[in-house]
Order: sequence, then structure tokens, then C-alpha cells
Amino acid sequence: MQESIDLLYAVAKETAVAAGRLAKEMWSQPRQISEKGFRDLVTDADIATQALITDVLQKKFPDHGYLTEEEDSDLSEDGPIIWIIDPIDGTTNYSRQQPIYCVSLAATHPLHDAEGNISGYEPIVGIVYDPMQDELFHAAKGMGAWLGDRQLKTSSVTEIGKAIIGIDRPYNELISASVTDLLPHFGKTVNSTRNLGSATLAMAWVAAGRFDGYLNCNLKPWDVAAAWLLIEEAGGQLSDIYGNSAQWSTAGMDLFCSNGRFHQSFINLLSGK
Ligand code: IPD
Ligand code: CA
Ligand code: CA
Repeated sequence: MQESIDLLYAVAKETAVAAGRLAKEMWSQPRQISEKGFRDLVTDADIATQALITDVLQKKFPDHGYLTEEEDSDLSEDGPIIWIIDPIDGTTNYSRQQPIYCVSLAATHPLHDAEGNISGYEPIVGIVYDPMQDELFHAAKGMGAWLGDRQLKTSSVTEIGKAIIGIDRPYNELISASVTDLLPHFGKTVNSTRNLGSATLAMAWVAAGRFDGYLNCNLKPWDVAAAWLLIEEAGGQLSDIYGNSAQWSTAGMDLFCSNGRFHQSFINLLSGK
């Protein structure tokens, strides 16, 4: 079955908001928290929020596939549309009742290699919902990026010395260290840096012109899929940290994204040029 982009877009927006409301209801209650990897937490709210999203989508679109942050062996991995889902991005914030987190939901077209295996994903709808601020960031391919009913455009900052750059560390011992090592390359040159603790929300803020750039390593498809489309549709630029056009996959990607006005100068700083 091939649904219209309008239907995918409408269902994605409604579902992200419903999921965000559930996450917000659970936010102030006692949490069950476990560590699934190095500093990488999962809470009962991540599981409940993801289940709400996948239950709604499975009922509406029984032949669709899923790529979700939290494991769920009942979900199909392939289909005409693959939903890429991060039920709560910013789980560490969430688990400490810090009000900075979001729901991320993207509808994508899967790309296949010669053997028929999925080799990539092309986002066609991207939704990032911040339930604490009731902010719905949304985009559909070729239709612009929006915050509610206001169209988004990345910032107009051109001078690197005026740029506000978001930066986070991934939950991986070795890579975390390497991100921290990059900070001296640009820390004194830029206006200032911010750690939101939610890669997806930070990318949505680049699309909205609140940040001029964002840097993080080892990001997974569920961290970036929805916000990627927001930044593209808002006129920004995304690459890896060496400036190569970026491909994301479950192997993780090292990302720099920006308003596109000082992108290469920042990349040069990272490599010590
Ligand atoms: C994490 C957050 C964090 C980033 C990590 C992500 P999660 O996602 O986005 O800001 O630094 O790389 O894994 O675990 O909160 O969904
Ligand atoms: Ca998450
Ligand atoms: Ca995440």
C-alpha cells in the first residue's frame, strides 16, 4: 500500500504529540532506570512511549517497517515506508527530571542494495516534538520546515566568532573522549557553546536558527533522521566532521550541521587548519 505524504505527515504529527504527552505525564513520577550500555540509560518511559508510537502506526499502516532505538523483536524491519523512532531523545536529562528532551519520528523510504538488503533511508517526513515547551517541529520533503505554523529558516550568522554551537558527547568511552578533544580546536573561536543533552532537539534548534551549528559523534539513525530533514528544509548544511557529504547508518556518524554560512571554516578548525 502506498499512502500519500499528507496522510503520513498528519499521522506522524498526531502520534509524536500523543507520545510526548505520555512522556510528560510520566516525567515527574518515580522512574525505573537501567543502563543498556556505557552511560546509556533506558527508562520505563522510553519503553512506554515507543510502544504507544508503534501501536498507533502498526494499526494505521500494517505493512510498514521500523528502525527503533529501543529493541522490539515484534516489529518488521522492512516495508514500503520505514519509521525511524527515538521515543525520548535526551533520556539522561529525562531520568534526572531536567526538562530538555523530545520525541523524534521520521517516515523514510528505504534504499536497497543489489542483494535486496536495506542500505540507507531517505526521510520524507520528520517530526521532533518537545513536550515541555509544547513545540512541534515538522517537515516534509520539498514542503519546508516548520515550528507549529511558522516556517523555519536557519540563522543568518556568517562570522564564526558570533556562532553559538551546540555540542554533546556520545555514550561511548573512546568516542566521548575524542569529542572532548575537539573542543579546544574551536572553543575559544566561537561565540559560545551549549550542551543540551538532546542531539535531536539541538538539531531542531539549528533548523530554527536558535543554534548556528551542532557537533556530535556516533549519532544513530534515530537521533538524526527527523531533524536531518528539518535542517535540509530550513536551508542548513550537514556533513561529517571532515566536511564530506554525510551518510548515516546504524554504524553511527560523526556530524557537524550548521546554517551553512561558515560550515567549511568550522570544519577547517576541527582539523587544525
Ligand atoms: C543521546 C542524546 C545525547 C547524545 C547521545 C545520544 P538518547 O540520545 O541525544 O545528547 O549525546 O549521543 O545517544 O540516549 O538520550 O536517546
Ligand atoms: Ca532515546
Ligand atoms: Ca537519541
